[in-house]
Amino acid sequence: MAFTQPLVSQAVDAQDIQSCYDVRIRVFVHEQKIPLELEIDEYDPVCLHWLATAVEVSQQSRQALGTVRLYPVPNSSIGKLGRLAVDLSARGLGLGRKLVEALEQDAKAKSMTSIEAHAQVAKRLFYEKLGYHVMDETVFIEDGVEHVKMGKLLG
Ligand SMILES: CC(C)(COP(=O)(O)OP(=O)(O)OC[C@H]1O[C@@H](n2cnc3c(N)ncnc32)[C@H](O)[C@@H]1OP(=O)(O)O)[C@@H](O)C(=O)NCCC(=O)NCCS
Repeated sequence: MAFTQPLVSQAVDAQDIQSCYDVRIRVFVHEQKIPLELEIDEYDPVCLHWLATAVEVSQQSRQALGTVRLYPVPNSSIGKLGRLAVDLSARGLGLGRKLVEALEQDAKAKSMTSIEAHAQVAKRLFYEKLGYHVMDETVFIEDGVEHVKMGKLLG
């Protein structure tokens, strides 16, 4: 599939938030086999969500293709990045980077000073390319997948 006109914006209405959940279900539940009951959790209602879309060239229709969420840790200046997902058909086009950049820009505007993430070990290089570093080399299992804690100071 070919895509053009990528766009990342904050999901504000119920329809956009549902599109974010739908991407996560396709990627984490169907592709990565994470149980559905673990996917949408108690943090979702208090998180900010971003939605990445692009126009699929042959159909000339805009499709929801990626998402990420930000959890503002209470009584701190830390934001937690989570549930970053881009549909298999749209990977390698820069949508993952655009989603993280949009989240960081908003976190900065909200005076957050750092972003932390539980990163899948297999995605460590992706986060390193975006300026994240491993905060602790201890590998832990979350939702059945190996993770490490990564972080980035917002300059
Ligand atoms: C990880 C993920 C979000 C990356 O999204 P993407 O849109 O394909 O990434 P981008 O195209 O923005 O890539 C940005 C850079 O990271 C690199 N990159 C992307 N995925 C990578 C990976 N799995 N391993 C190493 N590098 C990767 C790209 O080559 C690119 O490098 P460049 O700037 O030197 O060209 C996507 O692969 C995905 O949704 N995977 C399944 C869900 C998942 O595992 N989420 C992360 C949970 S922690």
